[in-house]
Amino acid sequence: MSEAKKSEEPKVGDALYHIRIKKGQIPRFVFLPGDPDRVKVFAKSWDSSQMVAQEREYLTYKGVYKGVELACTSTGIGSGAIAIAVEELLRVGADTLIRTGTTGALWKDIGIGDLIISLGAYRADGATMAYAPIPYPAIANYEVVNALVEAAETVGARYWLGITYSTDSFYLGQGRPGFGGFTNEFSEKIIETLEKLNIINMEMESSTLFTLASIYKVRAGAIFATIANRETGEFVPNAGVETMVKVSNEAVKILKEWDEKKKIYNKRYFYPSLIKK
Ligand code: URA
Repeated sequence: MSEAKKSEEPKVGDALYHIRIKKGQIPRFVFLPGDPDRVKVFAKSWDSSQMVAQEREYLTYKGVYKGVELACTSTGIGSGAIAIAVEELLRVGADTLIRTGTTGALWKDIGIGDLIISLGAYRADGATMAYAPIPYPAIANYEVVNALVEAAETVGARYWLGITYSTDSFYLGQGRPGFGGFTNEFSEKIIETLEKLNIINMEMESSTLFTLASIYKVRAGAIFATIANRETGEFVPNAGVETMVKVSNEAVKILKEWDEKKKIYNKRYFYPSLIKK
């Protein structure tokens, strides 16, 4: 391969440059938290696990949960970082990606620790304009959404569904003052604007995951633990994370069962009465 080609698909040995994973080293189901420490929380919740790779913000473990092989890779924060993770994870064998993050809720009734399952995302990120013009929608895969809902019911979690706002800015972009109280008209109005649009939550990666997944014909979804409520002003780090991990593991088990049904009955898409067949 010429030098120019090497620069188009950067690798270290056979491993992808950023995630340092080789083709075939991970299973198809992959969770995507932002925080590397949360990868270890996932790994501990499985029946068995092992570290696959660690490079920059990208830490990957794989393992087995109730007979299902799965993996978890941290993406770091923001659209640029998750776009790299998605690009490289798809090249090494992932085909179902679930963002498992934390979030700031916008509806006042959403409690700290409640879970939010995203139906789609408002593209206020910086990365996806390189892929598709802004009318292109960022939507979650309906099978992943349904599996997350089914799993939340199984676990007995409190959960909500709605449209997510994804931005690359944690402070001004989410209506928080910058250093020294710096603010501007956009930041002062953003929360009110999003509430009028019935947006349920704010976070920083899902629009990128959903956009790339649709383009690349793979499944993606997102579930969040509510650690902040922007209406009530509450903020509790890690609230709901353990429940989110349980629901996410169960959702992958459910998705695998549904995939097996689709195969048996030769169906491209899952639909509820397939369960009873
Ligand atoms: N993550 C965000 O992007 N915003 C919050 O308020 C909390 C977590």
